[in-house]
Amino acid sequence: MYRTWDEYEITTLFNSDSELCLVAEQDEEILGFALGTTVEKSNSAWKYGYLVWLAVKPGIQKGGVGSALFKETKRRMREQGVRMIIIDTDADNEAGIRFFEKQGFGNIQQHVYMTLNLSRKTRRKRSKPA
Ligand SMILES: CC(C)(COP(=O)(O)OP(=O)(O)OC[C@H]1O[C@@H](n2cnc3c(N)ncnc32)[C@H](O)[C@@H]1OP(=O)(O)O)[C@@H](O)C(=O)NCCC(=O)NCCS
Repeated sequence: MYRTWDEYEITTLFNSDSELCLVAEQDEEILGFALGTTVEKSNSAWKYGYLVWLAVKPGIQKGGVGSALFKETKRRMREQGVRMIIIDTDADNEAGIRFFEKQGFGNIQQHVYMTLNLSRKTRRKRSKPA
């Protein structure tokens, strides 16, 4: 888990960007979903699209569902004036990275996530006698 999330992230996205929350279905079975949002920065004229999550049911992956979800997300983002789409994923997610490269993504930038476990006792530094 390289970042935290909870169910409120999903409901918040759905409330703010329902147009960018897609579900792929066949015969009432859910095959996959995409959750996106848009970001505008005060110091930039560009509008960014952020694809927060994209997932396809295991067992039917590599069958084109992810591409279809992404294609529709991209179309909707473009319609909303987005000029650049951003995604993030775990550096070990080779399949995901390959998938996004296939969709035309590039310019991979690496981030570092660090943790500090507050439940562990930390050793106090002894203060020097005056
Ligand atoms: C990444 C993911 C969404 C792709 O969806 P998908 O339906 O399997 O992808 P598609 O069938 O549309 O694949 C399109 C292209 O992506 C690449 N690709 C997809 N899965 C791949 C895999 N396991 N290994 C290598 N390349 C892969 C291929 O180039 C493929 O083209 P091809 O079929 O002509 O070879 C899906 O694998 C998934 O749900 N993974 C787990 C969640 C995840 O990692 N999400 C992305 C980060 S948010």
